[in-house]
Amino acid sequence: METSARLAVISGGGGGIGRALCRELVQRGYEVVALGRSPRRLRELEAMTVRAADAGASDHPPVRGVVCDVTDETETDRVLSALGPVSVLVNNAGTAESAPLHDTTLRSWHDHLAANATSAFLLTRQVIPGMRERDRGRVVFIASTAARAGTPYTAAYTASKHAMLGLARVVAAEVAGTGVTSNAVCPSFVRTPMTERSVQRIAERTGRTPEAAQQALTDSGPLGRLVEPEEVAAAVGYFVSDAAACVNGQSLVLDGGGIQS
Ligand SMILES: NC(=O)c1ccc[n+]([C@@H]2O[C@H](COP(=O)([O-])OP(=O)(O)OC[C@H]3O[C@@H](n4cnc5c(N)ncnc54)[C@H](OP(=O)(O)O)[C@@H]3O)[C@@H](O)[C@H]2O)c1
Repeated sequence: METSARLAVISGGGGGIGRALCRELVQRGYEVVALGRSPRRLRELEAMTVRAADAGASDHPPVRGVVCDVTDETETDRVLSALGPVSVLVNNAGTAESAPLHDTTLRSWHDHLAANATSAFLLTRQVIPGMRERDRGRVVFIASTAARAGTPYTAAYTASKHAMLGLARVVAAEVAGTGVTSNAVCPSFVRTPMTERSVQRIAERTGRTPEAAQQALTDSGPLGRLVEPEEVAAAVGYFVSDAAACVNGQSLVLDGGGIQS
């Protein structure tokens, strides 16, 4: 798994936002490694990016999928140790379920913290020493508006995203003054399979149509529509760019103006 080009690692690269992140970073000239648990989703991602790439421009797929449960320390250590120097890490893997606090199980609480916060801790802890040694690197966290505010029925998700954003800020404080930066993107509802599952759950619980359930989600903020995965990817593209070399410890909210700094 040795690599020589500028390497970007994206957790959850086979998901809705992950795919857009892969495209964005390939377009910016990175060799991309996407981490996920489902071999099928990773193979689909590879096939998609091969089709999109200029045929013959590269000896290998522009995105390589690597099976890795990013909540497992042994797996993250094994996978990242086998890669070359990582230039960009995007902590994007995550999970989201909703329930009133009194119905939130301990299992769900732990699962959210593991997928949304511990994963970012394990991956970031692994890449930061190399980035600091090279005095160059970018870590971006795909947090959420749930990292910046509390909304009903999201205790486990919101707590885990607050933890993720806290980690992003600590990393920023530790790398301040170096060539490494740590920033977060905080979108409201994005058009991805995760949101489709939320819409489905709302429809089942409330008896609304899926269209009405999605409308209820988009009506909850000023944007009045879902955020597109490409809009999240563009924000990440900015944070990894040379133009953002002086931006560290920030969380960029993509919600049309519901949450203000
Ligand atoms: N969709 C939204 O409205 C929204 C809004 C704000 C923030 N976000 C955040 O954006 C990120 C991406 O979400 P999405 O909407 O693109 O969801 P998605 O389509 O469900 O993708 C989630 C990805 O995370 C991966 N993943 C989950 N647990 C993992 C684990 N233990 N190990 C490795 N990979 C794991 C999944 O891959 P496998 O299942 O194959 O492992 C999948 O590729 C999440 O952190 C989410 O919280 C989403």
